[in-house]
Amino acid sequence: MSHSAKRVPVAVLISGRGSNMTALIEAAHAPDYPAEIRLVISNIPDAPGLETARAAGIQTLTIDHRIFGKDREAHERAIDSALRDAGIEIVCLAGYMRLLTPFLTDAWSGRMLNIHPSLLPEFPGLHTHERAIAAKASKHGCTIHLVTAGMDEGPVLAQATVDVFPDDTPESLAGRVLKEEHQLYPKTLAELIRKNTN
Ligand code: GRF
Repeated sequence: MSHSAKRVPVAVLISGRGSNMTALIEAAHAPDYPAEIRLVISNIPDAPGLETARAAGIQTLTIDHRIFGKDREAHERAIDSALRDAGIEIVCLAGYMRLLTPFLTDAWSGRMLNIHPSLLPEFPGLHTHERAIAAKASKHGCTIHLVTAGMDEGPVLAQATVDVFPDDTPESLAGRVLKEEHQLYPKTLAELIRKNTN
């Protein structure tokens, strides 16, 4: 891809800290990075990642799920409209803590990625580091996958592995995995875009 090539507009969906979002924003500062992080959406109004994104000059939106009550699809319709209004082509979930309905996963099929802190299909869901230690796993890590209707089930795009040490705590293991997450997400997003545009 040449430097003059169009950068694919990407949105990042967060619910909290946003360290993976930050890794994507920083990677996209490279002149030859094939994506532009154009929009950050949070379902939580005071998610710390929103301030980080604003400080980086990125447009942010809060779409609070609580306003929509039990109507998950209505919340997702609001997100979908915001993504389309901003001309977004790829969505990266990064610590986005809502289960998605088929409405949004179908609308963005093949164009929505998630990062999960385990070597899927091992340990889908929450508390992955605790569970890896409890299971006496010798390897743990993170996975980038395409999002489908089943939680943490879509096709795997990439994984990074870390060793689990006998004295690991969930916190020490999480820290080591997170470092890998910050490398793997920007790299995998770039690879997906380059594969689709070449
Ligand atoms: C990460 O461990 C990610 O894999 C998981 O939630 C955490 C989010 O962290 N889905 P951050 O908000 O990106 O810092």
